Amino acid sequence: MGEMYTKHAKKYADAIENNAYNALYERPSTLALIGDVTNKKVLDLGCGPGTYAELFVKAGAQVTAIDLAEEMVAITRERLGDNVTCYAQDLANGLPKEQDDAFDIVVCPLMLHYLEDLVPLFKEVHRVLKSGGLFVFSTHHPLVDFEENAFNNYFDVELLTEEWNTIGEPVEVSFYRRSFTNLFESLSEGGFVLDKFSEGKPDPEMKTESPETFERLSRRPNFIFIRAKAN
Ligand SMILES: C[S@@+](CC[C@H](N)C(=O)[O-])C[C@H]1O[C@@H](n2cnc3c(N)ncnc32)[C@H](O)[C@@H]1O
Repeated sequence: MGEMYTKHAKKYADAIENNAYNALYERPSTLALIGDVTNKKVLDLGCGPGTYAELFVKAGAQVTAIDLAEEMVAITRERLGDNVTCYAQDLANGLPKEQDDAFDIVVCPLMLHYLEDLVPLFKEVHRVLKSGGLFVFSTHHPLVDFEENAFNNYFDVELLTEEWNTIGEPVEVSFYRRSFTNLFESLSEGGFVLDKFSEGKPDPEMKTESPETFERLSRRPNFIFIRAKAN
């Protein structure tokens, strides 16, 4: 994964608060699939610095937030205090602390590309969701990761390392590239059916603040956004 979410956690938190990719593209596109969370029990997986958790708490949800990085858990706790249940957990090992049928909505923005195999976590998400509950996530667009790197085979799951400038200096980040086939077969194996799919839309506000990024994201999506329902 690299040091983006550990050593640079605070800088990452500040960067995504108002930037184009997270604040004006990823979050509005994910939130559009989530809808109203008032009085809902929400589980936020890979919560990072608690940016989403704060939005859910403010909207009147009861929020549990989980992240691998202790640094991110600390920032989320500092931000939300007793209004959130937040703890560190490697989601590759599932959700051992969570009860069956406990949540109305599970959200997982921009975290799944750090897992090699999605099926174990998807099965766990299915277990902790109430019947009729929603699972909403965003992740890298498979075609973008495919286009930007040299590959042996599109259908393989591959660990890639890139330098990202998210925090204003280059930081190496490692993540898994996967095909649409792998993603949708994993969802199905986890017990989910697709409810809604989107490639996101940049917020019109980006047009004035970052016109070039607005133009690019309007033509070339960077992430995919999925809402799934328990089968
Ligand atoms: C790109 S950030 C997204 C943060 C937040 N979801 C958001 O969109 O604002 C990815 C987060 O996933 C966390 N993460 C990566 N691998 C993880 C794992 N195996 N288990 C739990 N969290 C993980 C990182 O620590 C980081 O905080």
